[in-house]
Amino acid sequence: MKTLSVKTTQGLQGRLEIPGDKSISHRAVMLGALARGETAVTNFLSSADCLATIDCFKKMGIEIQSQKSKVKSKNEGSVIIKGKGLKGLRAPGKILNVGNSGTTIRLLSGILAGQSFEVKITGDESVQKRPMGRIAKPLRLMGASIEGVLRDGEVYAPLKIIGGNLQAFEYELPVASAQVKSAVLLAGLFAGGKTCVIEKLPSRDHTERLLEHFGANFERQGERLSIAGNCEFEAAEVDIPGDISSAAFFLVAALITPNSELRLLNVGLNPTRTGIIDVLHRMGAELTIENERIISAEPRADLTVKSSRLKALKLDGEIIPRIIDEIPIIAVAATQAEGATEIRGAKELRIKESDRIATVASELSKLGARVEPLADGLRITGPTALKGAKVKSYGDHRIAMSLAIAGLIAEGETIIEDTACIETSFPGFEALLGSLRR
Ligand code: S3P
Repeated sequence: MKTLSVKTTQGLQGRLEIPGDKSISHRAVMLGALARGETAVTNFLSSADCLATIDCFKKMGIEIQSQKSKVKSKNEGSVIIKGKGLKGLRAPGKILNVGNSGTTIRLLSGILAGQSFEVKITGDESVQKRPMGRIAKPLRLMGASIEGVLRDGEVYAPLKIIGGNLQAFEYELPVASAQVKSAVLLAGLFAGGKTCVIEKLPSRDHTERLLEHFGANFERQGERLSIAGNCEFEAAEVDIPGDISSAAFFLVAALITPNSELRLLNVGLNPTRTGIIDVLHRMGAELTIENERIISAEPRADLTVKSSRLKALKLDGEIIPRIIDEIPIIAVAATQAEGATEIRGAKELRIKESDRIATVASELSKLGARVEPLADGLRITGPTALKGAKVKSYGDHRIAMSLAIAGLIAEGETIIEDTACIETSFPGFEALLGSLRR
């Protein structure tokens, strides 16, 4: 089993380029495969999750070429996808396997619902524990047949999908989930008529931005998103910004480690993802944003962050979907903030790569933090001096990396067990962290 050892550190300094955004990397491959012609994607995230998406499309007959970055330490590179249009996928000879990637299985199911062939799709142990009823329900309403493993009224992978002949419909999202929204919009590409998704609480909108960027027949009017079916679109160039969810680990690292200053270049600042910046500012972070620009329909900028005195805050409601992946690292920051931080309305955390309410509470407590799990969130009281200990990731990349950052300020040595999962979203994390430590 892979482990990571982190010792108390002072003074993180440096400039770093954060690897490409995971959510956008998945979507660029998916839309590139469905477009007509060659889509070139730069700063693609070559992590295990995104490579699983590529592998699924290769199995369905799409030619995809990857080129590694010329800079040795970087995992990013460019990818060329030879799209064959909306009717270009063919039945894979075998079962599609998404590994650990919930985004791949949920979004791809939307695309598979529109195909006239039968396909089976599964993932690793963690993916097989994640609920699929949330995508199966709307896709069945559109006309697809989706069978999975039934347990206590919920549907789990492996899924058998028999698609084709979809009918457009109108769907109000019962949960703020970009994966569900995207699965329906992608299925809508293949449906007769105009499919509408109504989204009351905004979640990440990368699918919508890329649909527009590729010239698909997509429209938004407030909370109504609509996509016209059976309209072909052409290949596009996509440059992917650095992943703000990965940047979040280094933002918090600099904030809580004394005498630190880090500059993070080309970080994606899509407003549906910048909850972490708002939260850190409200906590008192010295964090500045420069060189704001928009490339390939996605805003990005350079960030500078310095060690800061933090204060606690209450988080609930609309902000939660905008920080959903950052809550474990916000919890680490909260251990160093003055007062009681309370995060509510976040029960979705229980069905991520691990039950993040339980795993954050149990592992940060082992380091001496005062963390209380709540039914729908966490209460963290600070500031607390952390002490190194042996902790584990539960196979969850964001838990592994959050614990590594907590280890920077814990007295002595922190050993994090089961860290191979970091590869799913942030290859090179350990090397990058090592390069900043003095
Ligand atoms: C993602 C959406 C979110 C997020 C996940 C990536 C996406 O999941 O937690 O890491 O790329 O669409 P939900 O849709 O389940 O909220």
